[in-house]
Amino acid sequence: MRDIIAGEMEGPSLFKDAGKLSYDYVPDRLPGREEEIAKLARQFRPLLQGGAAQHVLVTGPVGSGKTALSRAFCRDLKAHARSQGVNIEYTDVNCRRRSTEGAALLKILTHFDERFPDRGFSNAEMLEILKKRLERAEAHLIVILDEVDILLKKSGSDLIYNLTRFNEESGKAKFSVSLIMVSQQDARTLLDEAAQSTFKRTGVLPLERYDAEQLKGIIHQRVDLAFHKNAFPEDLEELAADTAAPYGDARYAIELLQKSGQLAEDASRDHVEPEDIRAAAAESHPFVTETKLVELERHKALTLLAIARVLKKGAAFATTGEAEERYALACEEFGEKARAHTQFWTFLKDLDSLGFIHTKRSGKGVVGTTTLISLPDIPARVLEEKLVGILKGET
Ligand SMILES: Nc1ncnc2c1ncn2[C@@H]1O[C@H](COP(=O)(O)OP(=O)(O)OP(=O)(O)O)[C@@H](O)[C@H]1O
Ligand SMILES: [Mg+2]
Repeated sequence: MRDIIAGEMEGPSLFKDAGKLSYDYVPDRLPGREEEIAKLARQFRPLLQGGAAQHVLVTGPVGSGKTALSRAFCRDLKAHARSQGVNIEYTDVNCRRRSTEGAALLKILTHFDERFPDRGFSNAEMLEILKKRLERAEAHLIVILDEVDILLKKSGSDLIYNLTRFNEESGKAKFSVSLIMVSQQDARTLLDEAAQSTFKRTGVLPLERYDAEQLKGIIHQRVDLAFHKNAFPEDLEELAADTAAPYGDARYAIELLQKSGQLAEDASRDHVEPEDIRAAAAESHPFVTETKLVELERHKALTLLAIARVLKKGAAFATTGEAEERYALACEEFGEKARAHTQFWTFLKDLDSLGFIHTKRSGKGVVGTTTLISLPDIPARVLEEKLVGILKGET
């Protein structure tokens, strides 16, 4: 028995450091967010020059990097400030877990004192203690209020009002509190009047969904950090990016790396294959369901079958030429007359807009340009099985 366990523990792994794919790891650099970091830095510049506290609201859809950006910015700003002799502290409050003023204040205080008692102090007392701490440390404090909308809806604006009021009271004292509020929507509308007036000058930093190029950068960085050399071939980085692009979600992209790596490892392979990515995607976003396939018009089903058969062999992308050849064969197999080229094109276009396939123009490297086809989130093998069943009338 011990040899089995030892084998599993010590056998080769694709992962060099799987922890680099964990949800709370914040890398050194955030590819695709350089401009946003620069914008924040410009806004917070006064902090290093003895100027006023700054507040900002970071918004954007799921997985657009709001949490990572806020943390990375504070981490690096703190280090830079230190090199300039300025003391900046920051702490991060997850308002989903801490949705009352008291719970949030407690989190902020434990930043300064790990053993701060978790009961026994009123909110007013905790605010007073926090003020003394900051005074003593001569520190600028930046509080990240992540998912702040949850706190605002549940407990109102008191925390935000009270923390920002510090700055008016501190006078010439060398401390202040800046807020980075994070929310998927514009949370300013949830602030009450008193808080809104202190927040007039708040900047908003909207993060957009990532496009395929940006996701490629993010994926490339993580592959480097987490996988052994050659365990995650480079053309798969592109496939993973294209698979995640419709969602624009970096978390989903990183999940694809983790899951596909796991699948390859489970199969005792030393590298990830396209099918692993498609299977990982099928686990995460099961978009291509049986019901949707059954509703496909017959020639579109045959077109999709052709694509699945090309991709089943291990390629990340199919060209239209390959797909059309396979389509003609599939038509023969199922007793249909193959439609002409122009019509085949409309099948591809329709399959694309229905979300069954992704298409894009090929870049350099291929003679001329062609259209490259990939599957969003279903292993080609599984798709082929399902389609053959449907076309034979078994389902
Ligand atoms: N530009 C980037 N470079 C590298 N990693 C990134 C980048 N943007 C996001 N990530 C990673 O993607 C994952 C999701 O990002 P993050 O948690 O910041 O998203 P979010 O916008 O806060 O999403 P949610 O609205 O769900 O809270 C994290 O693992 C994060 O480290
Ligand atoms: Mg977040």
